[in-house]
Amino acid sequence: MPFFLSCPMKSIVFATNNQHKLEEIRSIIGDQYEISGLKDIGCYDDIPETASTLEGNSSLKARFVWDNFGMNCFADDTGLEIISLGGRPGVHSARYAGEECIADNNMSKVLGELREFENRAARFRTVISLILDGNEYHFEGVVNGNIIKDKRGSRGFGYDPIFVPEGYQETFAGMDPATKNSISHRALATAKLVNYLQEFCR
Ligand code: IMP
Repeated sequence: MPFFLSCPMKSIVFATNNQHKLEEIRSIIGDQYEISGLKDIGCYDDIPETASTLEGNSSLKARFVWDNFGMNCFADDTGLEIISLGGRPGVHSARYAGEECIADNNMSKVLGELREFENRAARFRTVISLILDGNEYHFEGVVNGNIIKDKRGSRGFGYDPIFVPEGYQETFAGMDPATKNSISHRALATAKLVNYLQEFCR
């Protein structure tokens, strides 16, 4: 269900080039708010993600847009945190199997490392950094679940085919996008972002 915003400030930049994320956020927020991606504002830089935490990386991305374009913006960073792996891949989720790796390699690495463990509990955690007029705010969303033994489902992206959220039988990649978007880590963090924007604009 989309969140409806009554704010007069109707546009904001989402500091990402990930089309999946843009679509997810747009469908979560609804069409009353115009969300531009990096390409839409003419930003083709590869923004460095050199921090050691999700908070740090989302902040770096949002700061980059504010410092270089002077636009209100937000950025997110997400990690899959697996208990038996001490929280890995965590902040290294995107390139867990190597610099040029694809999602399939990342998932295979995780499944290989988890083979010896009974406990397959994991969580997706998203941190959103919002910058409004130069001031920065953070919002977090967490969804708990389990890593299954084989990849299942063809929707979504990233680690979706191996993650089953608590209370469901299907992986994120096996459920319809509307269901994922109503329960996901990003949906929860985005709900907090939207609440804040509504307060800010009151
Ligand atoms: P990012 O840095 O926020 O883009 O996320 C880091 C990595 O986490 C991505 O490259 C994906 O592999 C993974 N990831 C982020 N969000 C999701 C999701 O909703 N489902 C599955 N994997 C995700």
